[in-house]
Amino acid sequence: MVNGYLFREYIGAQFTGVRFSDVPVNPGLSFHFILAFAIDYFMATQSSKPAPANGVFAPYWDTANLSPAAVAAAKAAHPNLSVILALGGDTVQNTGVNATFAPTSSVDAWVRNAADSVSGLIDAYGLDGVDVDYEHFNDDGGAGVDTFVECIGRLLTELKARHPNIATSIAPFEHPVVQRYYQPLWRRYAGVIDLVNFQFYGYGANTDVATYVMFYDEQAANYPGSKLLASFKTGNVTGLLSPEQGIAGAKELQRQGKLPGLFIWSADSSMVSSYKFEYETKAQEIVANH
Ligand SMILES: *[C@@H]1O[C@H](CO)[C@@H](O)[C@H](O)[C@H]1NC(C)=O
Ligand SMILES: *[C@@H]1O[C@H](CO)[C@@H](O)[C@H](O)[C@H]1NC(C)=O
Ligand SMILES: *[C@@H]1O[C@H](CO)[C@@H](O)[C@H](O)[C@H]1NC(C)=O
Repeated sequence: MVNGYLFREYIGAQFTGVRFSDVPVNPGLSFHFILAFAIDYFMATQSSKPAPANGVFAPYWDTANLSPAAVAAAKAAHPNLSVILALGGDTVQNTGVNATFAPTSSVDAWVRNAADSVSGLIDAYGLDGVDVDYEHFNDDGGAGVDTFVECIGRLLTELKARHPNIATSIAPFEHPVVQRYYQPLWRRYAGVIDLVNFQFYGYGANTDVATYVMFYDEQAANYPGSKLLASFKTGNVTGLLSPEQGIAGAKELQRQGKLPGLFIWSADSSMVSSYKFEYETKAQEIVANH
């Protein structure tokens, strides 16, 4: 692994009004906004309970502020800027319903629905990639690991066939169930997964620099041969790794020559924090100046 010039940031899930143009962009690196989230859930009306839609993905991010026109304007303003689509996430918007991976028919049908709907969103919004972010699985009696691996692996394969230049990533975190789904996906389909956005901000507030590097090395072993990005979150970090710890960890990884890139969750949180986009600036200075 070698140091790289990639910075990524999730945007749009929390509806704080953040726009692409609010976030500082360092021109000396590759910048990826990641729209969070498109989800394969359906809501008959705005007040009905979301139900699984068997691979038919719809936008659940702040589409009023993060529209196709806003994507085009951001890309026109910054030649090195890409916009990626994240699939899944924690809950379906603010409904409290988990965005569970829950295909309701065959793998073939789920993949067909997902490839068509995601491809449609890529075309409609002018997007440059997808990030797989499912965090909930019907672990007891529902779709098992093999179904997840085949559905996601074949979806990414099909999307790369239809859109040859897209960047693909997966976003696991340290949890036994989550690792049990994502590690076999990586083992079988690494050939169509360009990056691993590991959610290091799931670790605790006691994560000092040496521990951060240890966690990174553990995940590099879990996802062997991957471009494994470091990360931290902004906003409410009660009990969790802070932005300062994330910055310090990233600097040490870079000093050791193993930081391909860095990402932040989220632009929405930074927008309404007292420090605004200070950590976006600091994080980008790190990757731009390796
Ligand atoms: C784009 O980023 C690369 C580093 O990845 C940098 O060398 C280049 O100068 C940037 N290009 C522009 C036009 O900003
Ligand atoms: C959502 O998922 C979590 C674990 O991933 C589980 O503990 C929780 O009970 C689920 N919530 C609902 C409403 O199903
Ligand atoms: C911050 O996050 C913690 C842990 O998830 C939660 O208990 C607390 O209510 C949150 N605080 C605010 C102000 O949202």
